[in-house]
Amino acid sequence: MRTRELINLPNSGHPGINALFSKAHSAGWDIDRDIDWSQPLPADDSLVDHAWAAFGSTPTFRALPERVQTYATRRALGRMLNVLQVGESVAQDVCAKLALRLRQEDYRNHAVAQAMDEARHHLAYRRFIEKMNEEPEDIDAGTEMMFDTLLAADGALELVATEQFFLESLAMDIFDGIRDHATHPLLRELLTLVTRDESRHMGFGVLYVAEYMRTQDRDARIAFARRWLGQILFSATDQPGPIMLARLQRRLREAGVDADAIGPALLREQQEINARERSEVLAGRRLPQLMKSARRAGLLEPDILEALGITDHPLVRVTLAVGEA
Ligand SMILES: [Fe+2]
Ligand SMILES: [Fe+2]
Repeated sequence: MRTRELINLPNSGHPGINALFSKAHSAGWDIDRDIDWSQPLPADDSLVDHAWAAFGSTPTFRALPERVQTYATRRALGRMLNVLQVGESVAQDVCAKLALRLRQEDYRNHAVAQAMDEARHHLAYRRFIEKMNEEPEDIDAGTEMMFDTLLAADGALELVATEQFFLESLAMDIFDGIRDHATHPLLRELLTLVTRDESRHMGFGVLYVAEYMRTQDRDARIAFARRWLGQILFSATDQPGPIMLARLQRRLREAGVDADAIGPALLREQQEINARERSEVLAGRRLPQLMKSARRAGLLEPDILEALGITDHPLVRVTLAVGEA
């Protein structure tokens, strides 16, 4: 980079993207002043209700001693917060890279503002985990590989599509889930503030991808949608199954429960819950954020769906139906 390249930085002229930078300031918050960290997190407090966790609503889980349920739910929350705190650092890395890659003034400005948000989120989750006063479970191999792939990415489109568009949309439903189920006020306060920032980050991803789709020819649009829609449809329909069960069973064993004996019942009962939740989604009552983002960014246009042969995919149909309503 040379001074000459910076002297007349172009601006995309996109009002929505330009507005994100000032919003980052007017909607900013202070990790020390705006969160009451004096609130204790007692060791016997699950911090979220049991229904937040996979298998937490099954009758078999609910029949376990309260002490065991609390242990399992709190460990599941600790694991998720640990994934989030490292995810925030990954996002901060991506934003630092984007600030150097992107040439448009407004894109660069958003990237540096987001980098500061992510630094604050990282600190906030770290501080919360520290207050929980227990070593969190390690992150899983799948999440680690996904983060490693993102950290190794280089091009602006790949970085924004993965981080702000895909991951921030995916995370939005996770944040909403924790906030809605939080029983501890400190956790709820924290998630409310973080989610406010994340919706701005996701907004950048959607607007950036929408601009890309708007300016590309048919082949490039279809190629982009092919690259992302498979992953979006997979993630948007992912529900608790054997992998999550194995994690829960490990926690139950740590709490002294014969977890093998109740495994089949837990799985069967969760599958019934999964089926109910699937029909809620397909009735358009709980549309995954990933699908809304895909629609807003122009990935669900008729010519694309036809080229990919997914016009009749039930989740695609309901997303379009709800969007038009
Ligand atoms: Fe964040
Ligand atoms: Fe973010």
